Amino acid sequence: MTKFCYFYDRNGDTIELSKAEALHLTQGEIVAHGVIVSDTACDWQRSAFIRGGGKLIASGKNLDALCERLEELNVSANNFKIVSEPIPRLRKGDHHAIIQVADSIKGPVDLKNPETVFVLIISGEGCWLSESDEEAEQAWKTLKYKPFAFCNALPIKIARAMINLTATHGDSVFDPCCGSGTIPLMAAELGFSAMGGDKSWPNLNISRKNIAHFGFDAELLQEDATETNRATGCIVTNLPYGLYLPISEEVLIGMLNNFKGLTKKVSIVTTDDISEKLTDCGYQINQHILSKSNNLVRHIYLTEVI
Ligand SMILES: C[S@@+](CC[C@H](N)C(=O)[O-])C[C@H]1O[C@@H](n2cnc3c(N)ncnc32)[C@H](O)[C@@H]1O
Repeated sequence: MTKFCYFYDRNGDTIELSKAEALHLTQGEIVAHGVIVSDTACDWQRSAFIRGGGKLIASGKNLDALCERLEELNVSANNFKIVSEPIPRLRKGDHHAIIQVADSIKGPVDLKNPETVFVLIISGEGCWLSESDEEAEQAWKTLKYKPFAFCNALPIKIARAMINLTATHGDSVFDPCCGSGTIPLMAAELGFSAMGGDKSWPNLNISRKNIAHFGFDAELLQEDATETNRATGCIVTNLPYGLYLPISEEVLIGMLNNFKGLTKKVSIVTTDDISEKLTDCGYQINQHILSKSNNLVRHIYLTEVI
C-alpha cells in the first residue's frame, strides 16, 4: 500500500501547534520527531507548518538500512535530485548521506533540471526517502507583509494553522475581533468565504485596506463581538489583550455567550488561560495548545459548543 511521508516545523515555540496541524492535515502518525507517515496524500502547501514531503519510497532504521531497501526495491528515476532534511537541522554529514542514497537509486542525477526530486529525512530515529511533490511556491507567506501594521497582530502561521484545524470545506470563517485582518485574509487565501468584525472603526479600516491590498475579499463590518448576529461555519479569533487592548471579564463572557449562537466550532487565541470560563459557558475544549514567543504565551483553544 502506498504511504506518504511529511516533515513539519520543529521550532520550540510553536512545536505543539505544528504537530497538531500536521496530524490533522495528514491524518497520519508521528514516527519520529518532526516526521509523519500517513496512508493518504496531503495538500501540504495549505499547511502553516508542514515543510515538505510526498509519496514514501522507502525507509530504514539508519542510512545503510534505507539504501539496502532501495536496492531491494530496485528504485530507479530519470534525472533525479535529492534534497535532505536533517533532524536536527545542524546534523552533519548529510552531503555524504545524499551521495550514498543516490548511489542506491538507478538512473542519472540532474541537479539543475531534475524530473524527480526526492526528499531524504535523516534523523537519529531513522531515515525516510519520499518523492517530493512539486516544489512549493507558498505564496501565502508574503501575506506577512501587510502594508498597514498593527501592534497586536497575530503571526500568520498561527492564524493559518488555527483555520486549518477548525474550518472544513465549504465553511465560512468569521473573526469578530479582526484587528488588522490577519485571520480573514488567511481564510480568504485558503479559499474560505471570510468575514471580519471589529468594534473599532480605525482597526476595521486597517483590515479593509490590508485585505484589498492583496486582492482578496471579506465581508467586514464594524460591530461589537458581544452583539454580532452573523451566523458562520466557524469562528477563529484572537481576543483583545494587553495594555492597549484590555478585555474585561464581562466583555469576555459576553463574547463567549454570543459566539455560541453563531456556530458550533469556535477557536480562540488569547494570552490568558480561559479554560474554566470556556467550560462554564458551555464549550467543550477539544485541544488547548500553548505557543510562546519572547515573553508572550498564547493559549490556543479549539472548542465545540455543546
Ligand atoms: C488582538 S486584536 C486582533 C488582532 C488581529 N488578530 C490581527 O492580527 O491584527 C483584538 C481586536 O479586537 C477588537 N475589539 C476589542 N473589543 C471588541 C469588541 N467588544 N468587539 C469587537 N472587537 C473588539 C480590538 O479593536 C482589536 O482590533
